[in-house]
Amino acid sequence: MATLSPLSFLATTKVSLCSPSNAPNRHRIAKVSCNASNPQEQQSPQNNNNIILGNRRDVLVGLGGLSAVAAANFSYNPFASAEPVAPDVEGCNKPTLPPGAKPIACCPPNFEKKESIDYIIPNYETLRIRKPAHDYDDLEKYKEAVKIMKSLPDDHPHSWTQQSRVHCAYCGNSYHQHGHTEVAMQVHNSWIFLPFHRWYLYFYERILGKLIDDPNFAIPFWNWDAPEGMEIPSIFTDKSSPLYNALRNHNHQPPTLINLNWNGADVDRSGDVGENLAIMYRQATSLSPYSSKTGSGSIELVPHNTVHDWIGDTTQPNFEDMGALYSAARDPIFYGHHANIDRMWSIWKSFGRNDITDPDYQNASYVFYDENENLVRVKNSDAFDTKKLGYDYKQLDLPWLDAKPTPRVANAQRNIRIVKKLDLPFTLLKDKIVSTVVKRPKINRSQVEKDDKEESLVFSLQFDRTKHLKFDVLINEEEDYKWANPKYREFAGSFVNVSHAASPDAAVTETTFSIGITGLLEQLDADDEESIVVTLVPQYGDEVIVKDITISFDECDLQ
Ligand code: C2O
Repeated sequence: MATLSPLSFLATTKVSLCSPSNAPNRHRIAKVSCNASNPQEQQSPQNNNNIILGNRRDVLVGLGGLSAVAAANFSYNPFASAEPVAPDVEGCNKPTLPPGAKPIACCPPNFEKKESIDYIIPNYETLRIRKPAHDYDDLEKYKEAVKIMKSLPDDHPHSWTQQSRVHCAYCGNSYHQHGHTEVAMQVHNSWIFLPFHRWYLYFYERILGKLIDDPNFAIPFWNWDAPEGMEIPSIFTDKSSPLYNALRNHNHQPPTLINLNWNGADVDRSGDVGENLAIMYRQATSLSPYSSKTGSGSIELVPHNTVHDWIGDTTQPNFEDMGALYSAARDPIFYGHHANIDRMWSIWKSFGRNDITDPDYQNASYVFYDENENLVRVKNSDAFDTKKLGYDYKQLDLPWLDAKPTPRVANAQRNIRIVKKLDLPFTLLKDKIVSTVVKRPKINRSQVEKDDKEESLVFSLQFDRTKHLKFDVLINEEEDYKWANPKYREFAGSFVNVSHAASPDAAVTETTFSIGITGLLEQLDADDEESIVVTLVPQYGDEVIVKDITISFDECDLQ
């Protein structure tokens, strides 16, 4: 068991930022999505206005942008001057909801009538320490605060309904981006995912504290990355508690172990502790960024998305509540789940990574009602340090640091037979495992080069974002191997979509998904191979068009 807390880890270890993984002393860490050598990101406005038009839109909004179809009809360049993402506070519209959802309103009360003011972070003298839900000593306070929240009228800015609607509005196309009525605000599937949710939980916690008159009140986190936390914490399952929610998958009640790699059905096999830890190792130490401009970071896809889908009630049209983003925050477990996602961001930083310096990222901003009912605007750059926001996480062991995946077969014995080789682009159909060969521009790079740049496998995908979807990626795996088992190093990562709200004409969307493979290829003894076999294993949900799979080299050094 690894006993170093993230911070002591930092203090005792020189972290090599881009070199092959030898955790815990050498983490593979990505610079987050700047200077990507993905050719799509290298287009400059001078070179090609049309391309930059499409790309800038994607860059700014991730999945919130226009559909591929709509984008083609776009007639002027809204990004002539680059602006960071910000909701247009003059306007909030009814959300677009996934098919079958009951109509709801999501805009904050009196939003149109209020001016937002720049938020000034109070000078916190005492840190609120967030503790794991399975060992949480403030339960009575939390229950009391949520009970009060739930008793407030729906149109009160602090009511439970309003808290959940904040999330609905930011992911349901209720806001558009500042100055661009045609571009929806979307806080998922891009690099604003972590900072937005940090601010969201911050105000949730501040409001709860205000309601019980305890400014030091701290919410718990669901510690699903440690064996003790790998079932739904009992604080959320007591039916008489305000923290209970009935719309959850009935097969996943305690003591059922969470499956961080959930594949949409419990029939074949469920996860085990070792698998969950291996997944955490891969996702949390991966060089694929925690967030990227054009797509989700590793932690957003897994376990963030998989946990949403594992909790959601599959008898509901879109796995409501947790299984659909518009409804997820109605379930109190949402805030426990996201507190652990937020904690992962803190842990990631304790490994020596720096914040993204791109002004589009730094200045991205959001508006919330604070605990004093002021409509306040906050920005990403103020969210980088939890201590500045007056809170921290209880330091715990990170058992996944010892759970590094290992190769399933030794390379000498590896027998890669490609039964069905597909050329790009292709449609990944349900139930059809396919493989393709990807040529590597460089092999056997020197250690210096590897320390400087991470080799990444970049997928360009097109799919319907209102539908659930998961596929796994295997590298150099043998074709007749049926299970994509995350314990093994050949399992490189997963793409997961949680149902998003979208109007029917904007349901089709495009995103990129990248996986760092420098260390993986070394561990598979394949660094001298000129091409690799990439196998895609559809697990559940809709079809996805794989438009391209390329290799890019991303800067590793932090700014
Ligand atoms: Cu905003 Cu877990 O989603």
